[in-house]
Amino acid sequence: MPPNPNDTVMDKLVSLAKRRGFVFQSSEIYGGLGSVWDYGPLGVELKKNIKERWWRSMVHKREDIEGLDAAILMHPKVWEASGHVAGFTDPLVDCKHCKNRFRADDPRIKGTPGEPSAQCPVCGSKGTLTAPRMFNLMFKTFIGPVEEVAAVVYLRPETAQGIYVNYLNVLQSSRQKVPFGIAQIGKAFRNEITPGNFIFRTREFEQMEMQFFVKPGTDNEWFEFWRQERMKWLVGLGVRPEKLRFHRHTKEELAHYAKDAYDIQYEFPFGWQEFEGVHNRTNFDLSRHQEFSGKKLEYLDPTTSERFIPYVVETSAGADRTALVVLVDAYREEEVEGEKRVVLRLHPALAPLKAAVFPLVNKDGMPELARRVFDELRRHYNVFYDDGGSIGRRYRRQDEAGTPFGITVDGQSTQDGTVTVRDRDTLKQDRVAADRLVAYLGEKLKG
Ligand code: GAP
Repeated sequence: MPPNPNDTVMDKLVSLAKRRGFVFQSSEIYGGLGSVWDYGPLGVELKKNIKERWWRSMVHKREDIEGLDAAILMHPKVWEASGHVAGFTDPLVDCKHCKNRFRADDPRIKGTPGEPSAQCPVCGSKGTLTAPRMFNLMFKTFIGPVEEVAAVVYLRPETAQGIYVNYLNVLQSSRQKVPFGIAQIGKAFRNEITPGNFIFRTREFEQMEMQFFVKPGTDNEWFEFWRQERMKWLVGLGVRPEKLRFHRHTKEELAHYAKDAYDIQYEFPFGWQEFEGVHNRTNFDLSRHQEFSGKKLEYLDPTTSERFIPYVVETSAGADRTALVVLVDAYREEEVEGEKRVVLRLHPALAPLKAAVFPLVNKDGMPELARRVFDELRRHYNVFYDDGGSIGRRYRRQDEAGTPFGITVDGQSTQDGTVTVRDRDTLKQDRVAADRLVAYLGEKLKG
C-alpha cells in the first residue's frame, strides 16, 4: 500500500516498523502497555547490529577498554550513593477533577499549578491542579518472598552504576592501568511520566555506556577526546552529518554528578532531541560509593605511587534512540521509473538483511540455482529468499526492509553461472559470477 500523504513521517515510520516487523507495541493483543515496545525479526537484527558495532569500536578495537555485563538488580544502597533515591525525580501535578497526572513543566498547562487560575490541559477545569510534588522515576520491586520495605530493590535507571561498583574488580582482573575504560550494554528502566514519540522515550530501554577512568586534571582533555570520537562513530553509521549537532549543558541543565556535559542531538521530525551524552562525572560516583560502602576505591599509580580517586568521562547512548535515529535518517520516499517506492537507506553494516535472493521465475532450473546461491550465502550473512510475486514487487519489499542487495537468478544464470546484483540505492545492476558472491558482498559490506 502506498503511504497515506496526510500521515506525518513518524506515523509512516511507525506503520512501516509494524508492517515489516521492526517494532511492535508490547502486549498489543491486550491493548498494549504504555511506552513499552518489542523488536520484531528485522528490528532485533538492526538493534543487534548497532550494539555489535558499538561493542567492536569500544571494546575490541581498543586495548584500553574492557567489557562488563552487570546485573540489573543491585544493592539498594547503590542508588542512595548515586543520588538517585534522593534526586532522580520529576515534579508532578495531579488534576483533582479528572485524575490525570502531568509533569509540572508540561507546556499545555496554563498558569501556575496549585493556584486557582491554573487550568487542566485535559478536562479544562480551573483550580483543580495540585501544587507540584516530587515523584521518583525508579521502578521498585521486592527481592525474596516478602513485600516489605527491607526487601525493596530498584530496576537500574542507568547501567553506569554497575560499572562503578565493579571498577576495582575489572582493574585488578584485567591488569589495566588508568587511563582505562569499562563498557557495558544493557537494559535500564525509568518510570517516565511523559513518554512518547515511539521508541524515543520509553519505560524500558537499552543503554550502551562507557565509563573512562582518568587521572584528575586530565579529565578535560579526555572529555574532548570522547566527544569527538562519539560524533565520528555516529557519522560512520551513515547518519547525515547536517542532522547531528552538539548541545552543551548550561549550569541549570547539568546533572548532579556532572562538571561538564554535551548532548548529541539529532533533528527528528519532532525537533532536535538528545540521543547520546558525553559527561564529565568527576569523581562524584566513586567517592560516593567509597563513602557509602566503606571500601577504599582509590587507585594507586604504579609509576608515581600517587593515590587518587579517578575522574570519569562517560559516553552514554541509548540503543533504542540510536535505532530510531538510524531509521528516521534512512527513511525515504522516492520515485523510481515512474513508480513510488519507500526505501530505508540503511548503512549496509546495520541493515537487518544483507541481501535477498530471487529466482526470476519459478521454472527452468532457476529456483534450484537460486536455492543453492541462497544456501551458500546464508553461511556468511543474514539473507532472505523470496520467490513470491513479480520481481518488481520483490525488490520493493526489500527496499522497505533496507536490504542493500537484490540478487536475481535469471535465464542467463542457468547458462553461464552469473547472477544480477541490484544495488538498493543506485539501482545499478552488476552481473557477478554466483561463486564470487560471498567475496563480492564481503567487499561491499566492509566499513
Ligand atoms: N548514565 C548517564 C545517563 O543515563 P541520560 O542522559 O539520562 O544519562 C543516556 O541517558 C541515554 O539513554 C540518553 O541519551 C538516551 O539515548 C537513553 N535514554 C534515557 N532515557 C530514555 C528513555 N526513557 N527511553 C529511551 N532512551 C532513553
